[in-house]
Amino acid sequence: MGRIQLENVTKSFGDVEVIPPLNLTIEDGEFAVFVGPSGCGKSTLLRLIAGLEETSSGNVIIDDEDMTEVPPSKRGLAMVFQSYALYPHMTVRKNIAFPMRMAGLDEDEQEKRITAAAKALNLTDYLDRKPGQLSGGQRQRVAIGRAIVRDPSAFLFDEPLSNLDAALRVGMRLEISEMHNRMQTTMIYVTHDQVEAMTMADRIVVLQAGVIEQVGSPLELYHEPRNKFVAGFIGSPKMNFISGDEAAKHGAHTIGIRPEHTEVSTTEGLWKGVVGVAEHLGSDTFIHVHDTGLAGTFTVRITGDIAVRHGDTVYLTPQADQIHKFDTEGLRVA
Ligand SMILES: Nc1ncnc2c1ncn2[C@@H]1O[C@H](COP(=O)(O)OP(=O)(O)OP(=O)(O)O)[C@@H](O)[C@H]1O
Ligand SMILES: [Mg+2]
Repeated sequence: MGRIQLENVTKSFGDVEVIPPLNLTIEDGEFAVFVGPSGCGKSTLLRLIAGLEETSSGNVIIDDEDMTEVPPSKRGLAMVFQSYALYPHMTVRKNIAFPMRMAGLDEDEQEKRITAAAKALNLTDYLDRKPGQLSGGQRQRVAIGRAIVRDPSAFLFDEPLSNLDAALRVGMRLEISEMHNRMQTTMIYVTHDQVEAMTMADRIVVLQAGVIEQVGSPLELYHEPRNKFVAGFIGSPKMNFISGDEAAKHGAHTIGIRPEHTEVSTTEGLWKGVVGVAEHLGSDTFIHVHDTGLAGTFTVRITGDIAVRHGDTVYLTPQADQIHKFDTEGLRVA
């Protein structure tokens, strides 16, 4: 089991309230991802759930039990951090065994769990090495292994992959998703990475200044962002926003158009502009268009390659059924 409820939870550091009253339920077995700008309170929220930080008010409930006053070691959760903090003088085996030794588990059971975790994380051949003899990805796997053997009711991950290089991140992302599919244990995962959030989450929780802006499946957030903040936060490159007359034509204060929902032509279209930077990725092309008469730069994403370069004139046409509308408050207009 691993159902986690936050009921009117608040957190202040001194006079500064970083989490105003917040309510959230993470269902048993769910993979929830917390995203939001730096300093919005993602780590604080995770630490409140773990018990590493005390709530200023409100309750943390795990499997219908009020855990607000219960110390971290008794909450049945396992946390994995960005810095893996392994014991450098201990072998991988001993590092993984450490929490079980602390808990006084018998040797046979320890060995059984180490073997299973090592197998699940492809660490079987590395059990007798020390952390210094491992790659960053392998070290992070050891840290996850140390969490797995505790058989927690939920895993809490705080940007576990951000110290890894791009290729390793992709590999580990898949491994964690597969681990979740296999174990069906509740996971709460904090990340800055759009792709991690979109690909791993059952539900994404978007936070801004300690406030939940929206909770929903990745595609709900992508297709129906509740406000301009979520619209601008989910999706990469970012949604283009246009105010003024162009928006008024759609009965909105602001309209939002995603880069991938805009047609580009060198001969005709709704808005004429000049190519600033064209980023050719092979699989996609990102074109940053200036001088459209709309405020700022308009970014377009084209699948595949397109032969445009700096200084070219292009015409942009948004897909009519993919225009997001927002009111003066930034709220979505149906
Ligand atoms: N121990 C502390 N004392 C005072 N303020 C703190 C403390 N810990 C966090 N804060 C403040 O609380 C706010 C939320 O911090 P938190 O670490 O939760 O943000 P975050 O969303 O995890 O950011 P990042 O993406 O940069 O990791 C920040 O403004 C931070 O400065
Ligand atoms: Mg953080």
